[in-house]
Amino acid sequence: MTKEEMYLDINKWKKEKNAIILAHYYQDGDIQDIADYVGDSLALAQKASKTDAKIIVFCGVHFMAETAKLLSPKKKVLLPVMEAGCVMADMMNEKDIKKYREENPDTIILMYVNSTAACKQYADCCVTSSNALGIIDYYAKEGKKILYGPDKNLGSYAMKNSNVQLDLWNGFCGIHNGVKVSDVEDAMKLHPNAEFIAHPECNLDVLSKASYIGSTKQLIEYVTKSDKKEFIIGTEMGVIHEMEKKNPDKKFYLVSPRLKCYEMKLTRLEDLYNCLKNETNEIFIDEEVAKKAVKCVDKMLELSK
Ligand code: 13P
Ligand code: SF4
Repeated sequence: MTKEEMYLDINKWKKEKNAIILAHYYQDGDIQDIADYVGDSLALAQKASKTDAKIIVFCGVHFMAETAKLLSPKKKVLLPVMEAGCVMADMMNEKDIKKYREENPDTIILMYVNSTAACKQYADCCVTSSNALGIIDYYAKEGKKILYGPDKNLGSYAMKNSNVQLDLWNGFCGIHNGVKVSDVEDAMKLHPNAEFIAHPECNLDVLSKASYIGSTKQLIEYVTKSDKKEFIIGTEMGVIHEMEKKNPDKKFYLVSPRLKCYEMKLTRLEDLYNCLKNETNEIFIDEEVAKKAVKCVDKMLELSK
């Protein structure tokens, strides 16, 4: 079957079934192009909370589809590849965060959205890469101890930016954390006119070389508004699809060829096709867990208006 034939069926089923396709910027271009909405974690959560569709097909990784289900519990949320996880989210487990909560009842727990619903139950508020600094600042005013996790890199970046003291979980994204300062220096030598921009999941040494730091969506908006013509990109390769679509006159170089999230790339167009056709791979969350976990996501959306 050709891509065009699959697109025709997918568009037909979307109407017949009242389904919406949400996709993250790290998905393959073929999937981004057929999605109704492509976004960063925050924008996708906002979209999932507002849609009237009966079915949400979430092209991304498991925690993202889970977040959509928390926000739209009555809708059918489908994840085309159930095994598509997030290495960083798996670096925090429920047993450990539950123990932390029990031992630190007065600590504010701010949790990166890259975490399971089971862990989110113990958080006061969620954050994403696009709102973390603002939300951490907001809670810092309470003057209490704050735990931030699982991403220690985004946490270190927030501490450096706002002089807030955080307890950090020891998690990270292997893909972003793998970028080295020497990768940035080599890319800058190769492309002397290009500006380096990065995602806050990169480590602090790498971020210190960046002229702009932001979520996937913010990075795309930044290059689109900029007068510069060349950029070295410090996040997963999938963002370049949208950057090139929006800016055909500009050039984008990935800072390291290793910036490929294998979990995100597990989803192929065929998987989306079969998932929507057969309505398979539905996300279910235990009702008691969902009742508690949704609170920190709701709080984040309230603070991100
Ligand atoms: P964004 O929220 O910036 O899209 O990031 C999600 C993610 O998983 C980055 O690795
Ligand atoms: Fe998770 Fe890293 Fe993939 Fe983002 S890029 S989904 S943090 S493994």
